[in-house]
Order: sequence, then C-alpha cells, then structure tokens
Amino acid sequence: MKHPSFWKMLTVAACMALLGCLQAQELQGHVSIILLGATGDLARKYLWQGLFQLYLDEAGKGHSFSFHGAALTDPAQGERLMAKALETLSCPQDLAPGRCAELKDQFLRLSQYRQLKTEADYSALSRDIEAQVQREGLREDGRIFYFSVPPFAYADIARSINSSCRPGPGAWLRVVLEKPFGRDHRSAQQLATELGGFFQEKEMYRVDHYLGKQAVAQILPFRDQNRQALDRLWNRHHVERVEIVMKETVDAEGRTSFYEEYGVIRDVLQNHLTEMLTLVAMELPHNVSSAEAVLQHKLRVFRALRELQRGSAVVGQYQAYSAQVRGELQRPESFQSLTPTFAGVLIHIDSLRWEGVPFILMSGKALDERVGYVRVLFKNQACCVQSEPRWGAGQSQCLPRQVVFYVGHGALGSPAVLVSRSLFRPSLPSSSWQELPAQPGLHLFGRPLSDYYAYSPVRERDAYATLIAHIFHGRKDAFITTENLLASWLFWTPLLDSLAHEAPRLYPGGAENGHLLDFEFSGSQVTFSQRQPEQLVPGPGSAPMPSDFQVLRATYRENPLISAWPDELISKLASDIETTAVRAVRRFGEFHLALSGGSSPVALFQQLAQGHYSFPWAHTHLWLVDERCVPLSDPESNFQGLQAHLLQHIRVPHYNIHPMPVQLRRRLCAEEDQGARLYAEEIAALVTNSSFDLVLLGMGTDGHTASLFPESPAGLEGEQLVVMTRSPSRPHHRMSLSLPLINRAKRVAVLVMGRLKREITLLVSRVGREPRKWPISGVLPSSGQLVWYMDYEAFLG
Ligand code: BG6
Repeated sequence: MKHPSFWKMLTVAACMALLGCLQAQELQGHVSIILLGATGDLARKYLWQGLFQLYLDEAGKGHSFSFHGAALTDPAQGERLMAKALETLSCPQDLAPGRCAELKDQFLRLSQYRQLKTEADYSALSRDIEAQVQREGLREDGRIFYFSVPPFAYADIARSINSSCRPGPGAWLRVVLEKPFGRDHRSAQQLATELGGFFQEKEMYRVDHYLGKQAVAQILPFRDQNRQALDRLWNRHHVERVEIVMKETVDAEGRTSFYEEYGVIRDVLQNHLTEMLTLVAMELPHNVSSAEAVLQHKLRVFRALRELQRGSAVVGQYQAYSAQVRGELQRPESFQSLTPTFAGVLIHIDSLRWEGVPFILMSGKALDERVGYVRVLFKNQACCVQSEPRWGAGQSQCLPRQVVFYVGHGALGSPAVLVSRSLFRPSLPSSSWQELPAQPGLHLFGRPLSDYYAYSPVRERDAYATLIAHIFHGRKDAFITTENLLASWLFWTPLLDSLAHEAPRLYPGGAENGHLLDFEFSGSQVTFSQRQPEQLVPGPGSAPMPSDFQVLRATYRENPLISAWPDELISKLASDIETTAVRAVRRFGEFHLALSGGSSPVALFQQLAQGHYSFPWAHTHLWLVDERCVPLSDPESNFQGLQAHLLQHIRVPHYNIHPMPVQLRRRLCAEEDQGARLYAEEIAALVTNSSFDLVLLGMGTDGHTASLFPESPAGLEGEQLVVMTRSPSRPHHRMSLSLPLINRAKRVAVLVMGRLKREITLLVSRVGREPRKWPISGVLPSSGQLVWYMDYEAFLG
C-alpha cells in the first residue's frame, strides 16, 4: 500500500501538469489578421508597419499569429506588390539590428498573400485557418479583418465574412473599418444599417486615426490626472476660446476622385477635429478608460452643440484645385469645382460649462505649414503693476495662459503637451512622457518654449500602431461607435447642405496665401477678415455693386418705403426698432414689440442680438405675431426661431417673454383650451389699449401676412384680437394676431426680402384695400404709422 504522502504528491503532480496544460493552452491562442487592400496606399504607408509592431510587442507573450494580406489582384501580381510593401518595415531604434532582422524574417514567414474575391475564397480562407490551428495544436483566439478598401466594397466583403469566414464558437471576430463612413447623415445611416446586418456593434472598430495620435490620446488622461488644477479652470469663466487646428501643406493632387466627393469638412472636420472637440469639451467621466462612459459623455456634447448656420463657416479652395479635378476626372474645360479645401468653423456648445466660449475648428490643404493642435486659451484677468522686464521668466499672471495638445509637425516637430508656467505644473505619466529639453529661440503660440511646462512622448509611436494594438486587446474607447458617428453627421449635415452651392474663396496656396484666409468671428458669425479681392462683376462700371447704392427712400402704397441691399436694409430696420424702443421706454417705461416668424426676420434677429448693446431689453416685452400649432421646442415653431436667433443671446426678463399658448394641457391648439382667448387677455392686461409699440410683419408670395391667409375670413375684421386660422401649407393650424389688433399698433414695419417676392410686391402696389384677397392690403394702422422695408430684389427685381 502506498503511503498517503505518495497520493498527495501524485495529486500535486497531476494538478501541476493540468495547470501546465491550461497555461500552455492559454499561451497558444492563435490570432489571424486579414488585411483587405493589402497592396494599397494606406497598407503600404502605415498598416503593415503597424502589424509588424504588433508582432514585435506581442509575439513574445505567447500568442501565435498569421497575417493574410488580401486583395482582388491575382496571386502572382499580388504577392509581388505585397512583398514590395513589406520591404520597408523597420524596427524601433532600441532593437539590436540582428534581433530586428530575425523578427522581421519571422514576420515575413507568417505573412502570406491571398486573393479574396468570391464567397468561396472566404470559405477557403476559413477552412485554411481552421486546418492550421488544428495542425499546430493551437486554440483559435480570434480573427481581425482590416478593411482598407473603398466603402463601395464594404457590403460585399461584410456579407462574405459573415456568411463564410466567422471563427467558431469561443473565438472573437473584429472588423476594422476606415473612413469615409458616408458623406452625410442619411448615407452614414444607410451604411451603418447595412453593416449592422452583418456585424454586432461590439465587433466593429471604426478607425479615426487621430484618436491614436499620442497628444490626442493624452487629452482625457491629462484632464483626469490634473483634475485638481483643471476643475477650477476648465469652463466658460476661465476659457477665452478653444482652437482645434489641422493645417496641411500638401494638396489633393492624385486624390481628387475621393476629395471632390468629400471636401475638407467631410474629410477631416466631421471626424478628426470633432473628435478632438468632444475630448476637450465632455464632462470628465469618473473612469476615463471606460469606453461606455466616454461614449455617453461624448454623446452629451453632441446634444449640446448649437446648430450651425451658413454664417458659422468660411470656406476656401486652393487655386489649382479645379484644374487638378479637370485633369484627373476628365471634366470639361469650363468645369469649376465648388468643393472646399479650406474651412474655418465657429462652434458653440450650449452647456453650463461652455456657454459663450468659441470653439474654432480650422483645416486646409495647400497652407503654409503642416501642424495640428488643440489650444485652450485662458482669459487673463490679472493686472500686473511692475513693468514687463520685472515679470519674471514665464511665471507672470499677465502672460497669455494656455494648454496645448500639440499633435505634431510644425515648429516643434513632435507631439507635445504644453502648459503655461503661469497656470500650474501638470502631472503626466513619467513612464511615457518626459520634459522637453530647452530649445532657445523657439517660439510657440506667441511665447518662448521656456514659458511652458513642455512634455513629449518618451517614445514616439505611429497612430496606426497604437490603434492596431487597441484592436488586438479589444479596447474600444479609441474607436467610433455607430451612435457617435451618426451624432457627428447629424451635427455637420445642415452646414454641408447650406454650403453645397456656395463658391469658396480662392487662395493661391502656401506662403502666398498671406492674410487672405484669416477670419474673424462675432456672435455666431464668421467672416473672412479681408474683403474678397476679386471683382465680382468684371469690367468697369458694368453691373452695380452693393456699395454703389445707398439706402433708397420712396413710398409704397402711399406709405414710406425703405429699400436697400439686404445687409443695409436689416441694419436700418434694426436701428429703427432700437430708436423706437428707446423712445417708448423713455416715455412709458416699457416697449411692446410683436414679432413675426419665418426666415426673413432671422437676419434681423441676429443683427439685434449682436450689434445693439444699448437696446433696452430689460424693459422690452416680446410678443408673437403668429404661431404654428407645434410644440414651442419644435424647429418649425416661430418661438423656437426667436429663441435660437435672438432670445438666447440677449437678457430679457423671463416674465417679459410672451409665447403664444399653442400648447396647453399637453395638446396642440385644442378648441376647448381657448388659447387665442388667453393670449388676447394677456395682451389686454399688459399692453395699454392693446396697442403694440411696434409690430413686425412679413408678406407671403400669396399676399398673406401674420397667419392671415387669402380667402379665409378669420381675423380680418371683428372684435377678436387673436384668432385661430388655417394655412394652405403645413402645419395647417395657426394662431395669429387679428388684422384689427395689428392696425391698433403705434407702428407697423413690413419686411419683404428676396426675388421670389417680386411679383406679389408689384401686384400689391397696384391693388386697393382688399384683405380677403390679399390680407397684407388690409394693414393700415388707424392712428399709427406703417413703414415698408424691402430689399432691392423684392422691390426692383
Ligand atoms: C486623413 C485625410 O484622414 O488625414 C487626409 O483623409 C489628411 O486628407 C490626413 O491628409 C492627415 O493625417 P495626418 O496623420 O497626416 O495628420
């Protein structure tokens, strides 16, 4: 009989063997990486090198790998091209040359070319992987498919992978997708739905390679590690503005077939620059490496972005671009492209943290330097008494204060994080970031390098290598989820639509651009600082220029008419309203202004919001002339237009704002709710004699005004002050001031703009008082004054 200790030893030995087996199994996980588009540009420049780096980092840790370079090309040619792409692989400097050669040799032996064209090719690949795993006694960990192919090829490849090349149970599938992910919200949604039919969200890794850049990847960890210093500073009270910039010297030559479809906003603003913006602006999650928390916080930033208007951006195009497109895409000699190659965009975030802080996004091709950065410039509230030489090296509170995430290139030539010495000494992980050595004479953002605590990575690493490592480890926080993607397109699409037919400003390229592309912003508008230098209409004295006209005074329907080019007209109307307001407040202590909705007054609201600092808003009551029966938060609501373009920019006491009660008891314009009666009572209670100081009206192409429509008697006469009406266009149900109430006003201004109004303007000039046919003709204040404001297009055609 064996001694008990013998059994004990046997058990231990068995356990050890089992553990050894388990460990060995653990060590033998096999990963297949399939690079689709293996002979293309991106693969040649970055992806093979990134995969080699992955091999260098991971091979020694027990994983086994196979790399399959795939393309449509036949095997002989494909192998040749792939071998060429692999020739240039390099090792990190600290790896001994002998070891480098050895590892490179191993990598090349593991990398094979395969033609992948048909579904059968994908099945064969799957069988080969399974056979290899079995033959070598391995366990399959997973498969990575890297799509470095044009998006039109996505669906077919995705279908083939899903049906014929998924790994077996227990192994994962990761597909890596490269932009473009659509060209607007609709197409992105379509593509996402299509891909969603083949892959689960967790299987998809959408690359934005800027998220792999070291300085960008450092934004959240930096904010996290310096919470204590930044908590106080990272907000609208301290931040003057944020600049997110990516300047390039290269142009789009050789890539116009892609670029002509996309342009700079789709190519880099919608993705790289927007991602950087969200990293700077998001509320900081408790755990900055939780992909889910980061995503949720990003989505909140998207929800708070203020909608962009046409005036939120300036766009340019380098002069040689159209000729390049003509040459590369065989377009006729007369072809002029409207695709922007430069854009400057002003973004506002309507959150408590960022309200009022301009975020400026700028990027362009053919500029004077290659550089990228996110620069957070702080307000300077200090006042230094000593003269500047006594301020002390870089420490003074009076010097500009900034935090810069320097993506690379430019004067510094490497990624960096810079923090003004007058702000605080930042903490960065010392294993990966080190202080930059002094570089006398080097100035960055207006200050010598010595003014900053400046750090650069201990080892520079290519963005793709970083992202490939994340994919391998299943780290999803540096990739773009479907929700993130669609939120970004939702934000950018309206601007893209509004710019679709705009001619960008032409610029010569490089240093010759001079100040041509400089831009400035005020309120929510961005404009080029220099006027357009080219003549709009060639030849001396041909068509008149806007500046040739002064404001024209005449009469229309026997009342004063003011006519001008749109900008001047709006300025004139805005200043007339201000004068009326100031007088009313002086005499009666308050000013009652009733405003119309729609598109014509938008420019007026913006003008009032931006340029009229002496306007007595605190004593102004704002009323609505008419309203659609939609919730006040609906973009179609007149009140919403007023809110977006005026109210949110001015300080009017809340109790002075009087939206029409179209939504009561959670229903819209229900007769029983008597909204019109309630509004009439409010007017009667607050406005002396129900006589507004000023009513602003428009005129529709059918002669309607307010929401009083032709051939519909409601509101044209009688006692009622406020009426329910029906519009021929959607939404049909409206609430409107009645004609008798409008005619009680002390002053009525009718604003008419645009060529489309030309016909009705002519017609109404000839007709008498026939409000049933043309309600506008019934506007005639009984004791007040009527003034017409028309731009030249409406008045002169
Ligand atoms: C790409 C754009 O996403 O980024 C290119 O399509 C651009 O147009 C490039 O040149 C810039 O990337 P990087 O890494 O060179 O700054």
